[in-house]
Amino acid sequence: MEIEYLDPSNAKSYQSCLAKVYMQDILDGCENVVAIGAKDSDLPCGCVFAKVLDEIVWIKNLFVLPFARRKGAAGLLINELKSKALKLGCAQIKFNAVTSENNIDLLNKFLTKQGFSEIELLARIYRASPEWILKEGKWAKRLLNSNFELPDKVTILNQDEVDEELFAKLKNKEEINYPDVLSPFKNEFDLQREFSLFAVFDNKKIVGWFTALRTNDDRILYRSVFVDDAYRKSKLGLIMFSKVIKYHVENCMEKGVLAAAAVDNISAINFYSSFFNNSCDSIKYEFSTNIEL
Ligand SMILES: CC(C)(COP(=O)(O)OP(=O)(O)OC[C@H]1O[C@@H](n2cnc3c(N)ncnc32)[C@H](O)[C@@H]1OP(=O)(O)O)[C@@H](O)C(=O)NCCC(=O)NCCS
Repeated sequence: MEIEYLDPSNAKSYQSCLAKVYMQDILDGCENVVAIGAKDSDLPCGCVFAKVLDEIVWIKNLFVLPFARRKGAAGLLINELKSKALKLGCAQIKFNAVTSENNIDLLNKFLTKQGFSEIELLARIYRASPEWILKEGKWAKRLLNSNFELPDKVTILNQDEVDEELFAKLKNKEEINYPDVLSPFKNEFDLQREFSLFAVFDNKKIVGWFTALRTNDDRILYRSVFVDDAYRKSKLGLIMFSKVIKYHVENCMEKGVLAAAAVDNISAINFYSSFFNNSCDSIKYEFSTNIEL
């Protein structure tokens, strides 16, 4: 097993173990990137891709092809990444990514052996095709034909229609409190923004939002949904969701849906589990772990 640093000249041979968007960063020669590949008998078989930000190394992608597992490839990659991190003056490596349910246990065993903390599960991610949703989704059709009445003086706006001042207030959590993980500005994987809807009361205050991002594999990730406490029983969440489903069906029917719910957000888990009949194509998890060097 050998390792090598990836650059525009050799990166393409690792495309089966690296997401497209990260491959593009290497090909573009991005400066804050550390990417290391492993080769088994000269065959590229795994790689780790990380970005350096504020003296922290953030792993974005770690993957070893199944044929080369349990031969020490990932161990070598992480060891090299640790040395590189220290050389760059970084005292911490963080790993925040998404993987399938089956891989969580495996990653956890591997990472704790390398000295990382136990994996913390952050969000449950539901995956389905729009066709599936329309055919099987419990209340998709009802939502599409719904005509719920908005609460008094509330309008639903696209991001570019919202006053910048209201965004500034929202960022400072003035008059509204929400968990950071549900912030509409959250985009930890640097994904392209697909659309965001905001519920605005009387042009004075944002009282809810629904954000959607485009993933590296061209799906639409429903990232953050939040409704202010005062509007929880007013169907505002459903109204926004119905607009989102309509947008999806009209504009990107060919793109799969991913919907994320924080693992401790029982109402969101119940909402999506029921919407996706708890049996969509597959369920994934966003996780986080770290190591001090
Ligand atoms: C986790 C993963 C990176 C490990 O790669 P690997 O090259 O097989 O790991 P190594 O051979 O270096 O394993 C080192 C140690 O980790 C532990 N380990 C690795 N895989 C394990 C497994 N399946 N079960 C138990 N322990 C395991 C073992 O202690 C192993 O040492 P040993 O083989 O001497 O017992 C690989 O299985 C993988 O790519 N999984 C999918 C990752 C993923 O989901 N990525 C997406 C998020 S970015």
